[in-house]
Formats: sequence, structure tokens, C-alpha cells
Amino acid sequence: VELHINLIGRKNLSGEIYRQIRRAIADGRLRPGDCLPASRDLAKSLKVSRTTVTVAYDRLAGEGLLFSRIGAGTYVSNHFAPATGKHRQTEGVLQPKAVWQSIRLASAFARPAKFDFRTGLPDASLFPHETWRRLMSSEMRSEFLSGGVYEHPAGHLGLREAIARHIGISRGVQASADNITITNGAQQALDVIARALVEPGELVAFEDPGYTPPTMLFRSLGARVKGVPVDEQGIVVDALPRDARLVYVTPSHQYPLGVTMSLPRRLALLDWAARNNVAIIEDDYDSEFRFEERPLEPLQTLDTAGRVVYVGSFSKTLLPTLRLGFVVTPGSCTAAVRKAKFVTDWHTFTVVQAALARLIDAGGFARHIHKVGRVYAERHQLITKILSEEFFEYLTVMPSVAGLHVTAIAHSLSVDEIGECARCAVERGVAVQELSKFSIDLPPRAGLMFGYGAIPMRHIPEGLRLLRVCFEERVGG
Ligand SMILES: Cc1ncc(COP(=O)(O)O)c(C=O)c1O
Repeated sequence: VELHINLIGRKNLSGEIYRQIRRAIADGRLRPGDCLPASRDLAKSLKVSRTTVTVAYDRLAGEGLLFSRIGAGTYVSNHFAPATGKHRQTEGVLQPKAVWQSIRLASAFARPAKFDFRTGLPDASLFPHETWRRLMSSEMRSEFLSGGVYEHPAGHLGLREAIARHIGISRGVQASADNITITNGAQQALDVIARALVEPGELVAFEDPGYTPPTMLFRSLGARVKGVPVDEQGIVVDALPRDARLVYVTPSHQYPLGVTMSLPRRLALLDWAARNNVAIIEDDYDSEFRFEERPLEPLQTLDTAGRVVYVGSFSKTLLPTLRLGFVVTPGSCTAAVRKAKFVTDWHTFTVVQAALARLIDAGGFARHIHKVGRVYAERHQLITKILSEEFFEYLTVMPSVAGLHVTAIAHSLSVDEIGECARCAVERGVAVQELSKFSIDLPPRAGLMFGYGAIPMRHIPEGLRLLRVCFEERVGG
């Protein structure tokens, strides 16, 4: 391993080498089995005699921290267990901005459960791993890598063209490669839109309950955030604040309630935005999976004034770990969005973009959506059926015809009682999310969300049976 030893201004050089290697082993920078530089090489790089180094190595070997194999080198002993996580780090004097104190890292990432009803996760076992590996490895050999130059912040042209065709056909979105920018997931799409359009102190309106990561993002960029109620038709337009600069909505499948924004509500929102000169972000994160009727027209298509910015993600259709998303901008803000992408991280990983372009062009993406859509439809139907038949004393299922989760509202239980049931479920290996966690300004609502991306069909009945036991135990039958 590359070992950094600093002897500047030091007197006892052997002792110093000994101490610095010892510390590196103790705090885990050098791990059991790591090979140290040959004494001759280290001596040369430190400009000391070889004996100075061998004295230090011998002392560490004598303490059992190193061992040598003749002709093979010097290694960190396997018997020594470093103090994990004890990397020496001083607190320091730096003071992050106050906003970061109010922002929490999502804890949900790390907790897979046997009965996993977490929302927003696709079924990774259905991902076309073999095809993807082939495409990635062929793109790794392409001119993009060997060229060694930065690409345009807009993203890979072939992918932008492929996305434009795909969303044109599947969603009726009006887009071309010229007004699409590729981003690292929908979250970065929102980031570049915020940078392009919102000044610090301006107001951004969100559905309440709503998807919370964008609220944190906008607050971290200095915007003010306000939650606006949602009913069974979507965001309540009459409750929108007139001084908003931007409204963020999820019309196809409201997150978290799961309702679809009705056509009259879409038209009312566009009309309100026109009267108040407000921009709209349409986050179409999981609408590729639809279980009933033809989808309603996206806001982006209904908009004739060019005030809707459309955001898409491949986190649900493929995998969230790919970090691929995109934004379709009206011409007036395409350049600003691309400049925002440029100053943030220049461009998204080119190989992954090129591989996805080929997957879409060859029809593999559409086939995948068709295949997984059928699987999710079955899970959606089964969960809805069991919830309606066996939880009706506690929960009412919200109507939902798309996406990867359904939400059920508690009609007689409090937020705390639902929290009790959710915690009991976790103890039994059932992960469900509480609706109350997605409130922004309005009082939290009692309910549970059931994602079906991560749970196989065969686990659904047992997972819900265990949850039902928790309801009976904690809040009575
Ligand atoms: C409402 C909403 N938008 C977007 C996303 C996807 O975000 P990203 O593309 O950054 O993974 C999610 C994921 O759960 C979501 O729930």
C-alpha cells in the first residue's frame, strides 16, 4: 500500500517511522493483510538509510503487528484487530450552515426486512443484470472513455434522443434532445431547476403530505418552503400561496397518498400558475407502471405557456443505484439548467448514459417495463385486496392506479397508535412506513404506506398477517 510517513523536522527517525505505522494500524488506515513497502523502497522514498526503516519494522514485528515472509514482503498481522471506526479525526473549528442541523439523513436506506413494504424501491431481482453488464462492458471500451475529455453538461446525445422518443410515446410528453438534460436522478434534476429558477428567500409550494427530500433541498439552497393540502383530486389549488415562485407536484401518482391529479385540477393548477406567474415542477417519478385506464395528459403537455418543467427518473423503472434521471425544460430555462448542471458536477457518468441509450434503442427498456409492470400489478392488486378485506376496521385504502406503492389512511387511530403498530411490525420483520413522516407544515396524518417493489408476491400475505397481529395486539380488534 501507499504509505504516507512524514519525517520533516523529526529527530528519532526510526522511532518516528515506528510510531506512524503503529498509529496507521491502530486507526484502521492499514488493515490486516496489507503489504508494506519493501524496506529498501521506503528508505529511498524517505531519504533515510535502510537500517532506519528495518529497525522500525523489526520493532513492530517484535510487537506482533507485522510479519515478514522471506522473499514476499512485510505485512500487517492478521491477528491484530484495529479499533474500527476510530479513525483519528479532530472535531475542528468549522461551523456548517444552520440549515444542516434540521436535515436528517434518511434512515430507511439501511434496513431491509424479510417482509419489505418500503416505498420507492423497485424489485432488483427483475433488473436485466446480464444485458446491463454486457452493455456497460461494451461501453467501457468505447471512445467515450478513451477520448478522456469532458462531455457536454446536457448529457449523452443518444440518450437524450432515446428518452425524448420514449416519453413521447409512453407519456405524450413533448420533448426533444434539445430540451432534455440528463441528471443524477430526479433529485439532481430538482437541484439544477432550483439553482436555475429560485432566488434565496423565495417561496416554493409543496404537496402536503409530500415527498420530503426536495423540501430539504430547496431549504438548503435558501428558499422558503410551504406545504399545501392534497385531497382526492390532488393539490388544493385554492390553498396555494400567491407569492410562490414555484410549485412542486407529483400529478401521476401523488407521493405519498397515491392519488392521481384529476384533469380539472390539472387545468386549474395551470390556470392559477398563469395568473400568478408561477413555475411548476411535474415530478413523474413512477408513472410508467399503470394498472388501469389511459393515463391523464401530463401537465407538461397541457401547458401552452412553457411554465412546466418535467422531471423523470430511472430509479423505479431500473435501479435507484444507477442515479439516472432527466429534466425536460421549456426553452427559456434550458441553458440555465445546463449551466447549473455544469457548475455542480459538469456531467453525469457517460458510460452509464450510453449503456442506457442502447438499452432503450434496442427495445430492452420497454420490454423490461412491460414485464415488471405485470408483476407489480399483481402485487398491487393483492395488497389492496387484503387491506380492504382484513384491515377495514382500521384503514381505508386510497385509490391508486399507478406506481409502486399504495397508502392506507387510518380512520379511527391516532398517529401515535399507528406508530406503535409500525414499530411492532418492524420487530416481527415487517417494514412499513408511516404516512405521518411525510407531513411538511400541516398536522401529520395517521396512515401506512405499502410499497410493493421490494416484496415478492409470496411474502405479501404473511407480511400483512403479521401486521394485522400487531394491530390486534396494540390497538385491539
Ligand atoms: C416523489 C419522488 N420523486 C422522485 C424519486 C426518485 O428520486 P431519484 O431519481 O433521485 O432516485 C422518488 C423516489 O422515491 C420519489 O418518491
